[in-house]
Amino acid sequence: MRLTERSVDYLIYLELLKGYASGEEIARRLGISRTAVWKQIDKMRRYLSISSKPGVGYCIISEKDPNPYAIAKASFENLEVSEVFYYKSVDSTNERARIHGKSSALFFAEQQTAGRGRMGREWKSETGGLYFSITFPSSALKEVQRFTIISGVAVARAVDGKLKWPNDVLLEDKKVCGILCELSGSFEEPVVIVGIGVNVRNKYENAASLCDYGICSINEVFARIAREFKNLKLKSWGEILEEYRKLCTTLGRKVRIYTPSGILEGIAEDVDENGALLVSGKTVLVGDCIHLRS
Ligand code: BTN
Repeated sequence: MRLTERSVDYLIYLELLKGYASGEEIARRLGISRTAVWKQIDKMRRYLSISSKPGVGYCIISEKDPNPYAIAKASFENLEVSEVFYYKSVDSTNERARIHGKSSALFFAEQQTAGRGRMGREWKSETGGLYFSITFPSSALKEVQRFTIISGVAVARAVDGKLKWPNDVLLEDKKVCGILCELSGSFEEPVVIVGIGVNVRNKYENAASLCDYGICSINEVFARIAREFKNLKLKSWGEILEEYRKLCTTLGRKVRIYTPSGILEGIAEDVDENGALLVSGKTVLVGDCIHLRS
């Protein structure tokens, strides 16, 4: 399903159908025929339970979770994307974003069959979780690292979690969300892909699930994250970094980092301007971090 410019119309449907609205009223608002309204309502019934009362009109009774219209609404309002792609099942939303190659698009899936994690790992993606990727315009590799930090803060705020460097989101020391930022696009138009996976109703051993903390709606978790991205747009990079430092449980701890060039152990002292970790005086830009007991 591809919700593009026309999605704005869906948003109007969603608003209008919060209460009863007649076919005639909707047709007038959108400047289309009543037959076109009827056809659209029929399509929306795949994801929404819509009641129709003769002489009164239509009204949304309940929403499926996740629901493409709710996702599109939250994305258009907060992420300012221009296209939304919605899949029941897909290989990987980051892969779809890479193939698309353009910025300002959102890829959302109910399930992934080849979900990708950091450092070449698999990301288990059964239904019940939240899986999406957003593409942002970019000008440098440095920005990938910055998006890594920004998205970590956005999700941590949204779920009231903490962070493990670089951007694992934790609830009571267990990972609830993973974030994979990749650079893609063309030489002329590079894009940063931010891929986010959150355990909502799905449960994995040694990981946390939001539903155990009272948040069981994928629509709601997505909307919260989208809103925090918007809120962070108003902050300077320095302010975001400061907030990251406060949320990051890695700082001050003894750590072991598996980097592409070897293993490093030491004390995590700080996070620099570019989001790199300073471990006993050494700068680590990319790696897998383990917290050690001190
Ligand atoms: C990690 O290893 O912690 C990062 C996991 C990132 C998973 C998300 S789910 C949506 C997007 N699509 C992918 O294939 N991966 C990311």
